[in-house]
Amino acid sequence: MPSAEAITAGQAIYTPITLGTYDWGVLGFSNRFLWRCPTTALLAMYQRNISANHLDVDVGVGTGYFLDRVAWPAPRPKITLLDLNPNCLTAAARRIARYAPTEVTADIFQPLPPIGPFDSVALSYLLHCLPGDMNKKAIVFDHLKPVLAAGARVFGATIVQDDAPRSAAASALMRLYNRKGVFCNESDTTADLTAALEDRFVDVIITCRGTVSLFEARAA
Ligand SMILES: C[S@@+](CC[C@H](N)C(=O)[O-])C[C@H]1O[C@@H](n2cnc3c(N)ncnc32)[C@H](O)[C@@H]1O
Repeated sequence: MPSAEAITAGQAIYTPITLGTYDWGVLGFSNRFLWRCPTTALLAMYQRNISANHLDVDVGVGTGYFLDRVAWPAPRPKITLLDLNPNCLTAAARRIARYAPTEVTADIFQPLPPIGPFDSVALSYLLHCLPGDMNKKAIVFDHLKPVLAAGARVFGATIVQDDAPRSAAASALMRLYNRKGVFCNESDTTADLTAALEDRFVDVIITCRGTVSLFEARAA
């Protein structure tokens, strides 16, 4: 289990001020020019995987950008927001207030409270914020399993350290984030992510875009 200090560092950067810059800084600039995975690819992943019966949980909500932009398959989807950081929950809940989401403050490293069962769960850009190697991070999948319905979609994306070419600026930012504890992905690989998913889920699909691994899977 990573230390409480390391877990806190993975979400501490998200204040009302930094969240105000997140959409253009991370989703606009960094995704396209540094990580080389355009936000449209992440939005398309959401579009492919959100559940048809409108019960969703989003883990690590950030600003709620994707939940706002995705075309839900029904006018009144049931959405649960789960995050350790109350600033993120507040920002995302305000942004998608029209769907009256349920907010859950929780650390995904701990067993989850009695919620669900959900038909889809998103973990977009969560894993690279979590401390530990991929084997340790994979405990989040174990914590999610009890709140998933049979056949639920599990999907997300994470920035990895595979050998995809990256610019000097991208490498420098990744090193800085790792030093500050904002990211903890220096030993993360697509192969370890794939193994962690295949141990727990079925129909695992991994797509690499730039330095990002997008993953889609299904609970058995
Ligand atoms: C980089 S943001 C991702 C935001 C959004 N999902 C996206 O794709 O842009 C990471 C999110 O994970 C949350 N987070 C970090 N560590 C967490 C933990 N241990 N438990 C739950 N949420 C956590 C942060 O508070 C933040 O909302």
